Amino acid sequence: MTWKTICSSHELLEGMSREELLNGEIVAIFRNSGVLYAIDGVCMHQGGPIAKGCVRDGIVTCPWHGWQYELTTGCNAATKKKMLKTYQIREIDGHIEIDVPES
Ligand code: FES
Repeated sequence: MTWKTICSSHELLEGMSREELLNGEIVAIFRNSGVLYAIDGVCMHQGGPIAKGCVRDGIVTCPWHGWQYELTTGCNAATKKKMLKTYQIREIDGHIEIDVPES
């Protein structure tokens, strides 16, 4: 595993999201109901910004046309088909880290 610090804990408070560029890919990061999530940041429909979506009950809704994805699995919430990659994310010593795959 290669953990990379992406921001300080105070830069991702409850209810916040952000985008990060990791190995040339956009990753959407969320803190919702005390849980951290990291998932591909580009919607499979037409490329909408997942980080700008609303999160509820572990599901993010793309702001462009409403496709929904499970944040822990990357599956489309309606079809249960895996569509977006997810990443391991953790908080340690006041920082948020993501496990960055080898490129
Ligand atoms: S681009 Fe995300 S639902 Fe259309």
